[in-house]
Amino acid sequence: MFEFQPFPSKVEVIEVCPRDGFQNIQEFIPTAEKIAVLDQLAEAGFKAIEVTSFVSPKAIPQMADAAEVLSDFKGKHSSIEAVALVPNVKGAARALEAGADTLHFVMSASESHSRENTRRTVEEALAELAEGCRIKGDKKMRVAVATAFCCPFEGDVAKEAVLNIIERAMPLGCDEITIADTIGTAHPVKVHDTLKAIRERYPKERIALHLHDTHGMAIANTLTALQLGYDAFDSAVGGLGGCPFAPGAAGNMATEDLLNFLARLGIETGVDLSKVLAIARSVPKRLGVALCSHIALTQA
Ligand code: COA
Ligand code: ZN
Repeated sequence: MFEFQPFPSKVEVIEVCPRDGFQNIQEFIPTAEKIAVLDQLAEAGFKAIEVTSFVSPKAIPQMADAAEVLSDFKGKHSSIEAVALVPNVKGAARALEAGADTLHFVMSASESHSRENTRRTVEEALAELAEGCRIKGDKKMRVAVATAFCCPFEGDVAKEAVLNIIERAMPLGCDEITIADTIGTAHPVKVHDTLKAIRERYPKERIALHLHDTHGMAIANTLTALQLGYDAFDSAVGGLGGCPFAPGAAGNMATEDLLNFLARLGIETGVDLSKVLAIARSVPKRLGVALCSHIALTQA
């Protein structure tokens, strides 16, 4: 049933803790603390970091300092691709003004999550995306397809819903699509089925994965994606993360677990595991949140 091909020799790991990890923390993290974490991450060798999100501060007060955080990051780490999550045109304009290299435009494969998360239907979100692509200039546009495998409100998500979004988004000028397991309940059979259908139609270079680990299957799902030739993954140091508008969503796949796994397969990332481990062991403790990691909890 599973189709295998040789593993990619290199994988791009996109660190998303400063956005996905922080957005779920209720207590405001001082801007200087966010910047300090970003400085540490920048030292670890990531080529791309999701620095923040330009969302409504009423929806997510934690991200109210997005412009300040992003400007600081770009000023200090200009060689790292600064990714900013945006939910609408207003967010895209704010992110561009603050100096984002890549807009990560979030929409959902399922209508119910689309309405909960961005208060738009899928069709309305596609219209916002079209406008976002129009104003982005020469910056990169990545589209995050949330709830690509399962939805907290609707259950199983048909692969046709994901294919429809990709088919509509690509011609608008989107550079990449992120296939997101927002609630972390996908499993290898489902992931294989959806990704194989995507791979039959679209170049694999334009697809990234964003996997949460609620059911402990993020690494298994990563293996499934690698075996189909996919080579770009979001992950969050310390396994932090979760969408505040998706009940039951646990953290992202921990970056240190992903790096350890890829190293064991002989796959290069260019990211320093020991530096990431040090961040995983210190940052969640400082922020008063749980460390959700295998290797950071078990290796001295
Ligand atoms: N940045 C800052 N402010 C924004 C904004 C953005 N991207 N988008 C909207 N706003 C402001 C508007 O200016 C308006 O402010 P006002 O009340 O002071 O006039 C208010 O938010 C409502 O605007 P509206 O266009 O009606 O948006 P909305 O109420 O339909 O909210 C979202 C939609 C998407 C902006 C909001 O739900 C949101 O930001 N959600 C966050 C989603 C998220 O981060 N999920 C987790 C990541 S997957
Ligand atoms: Zn996420």
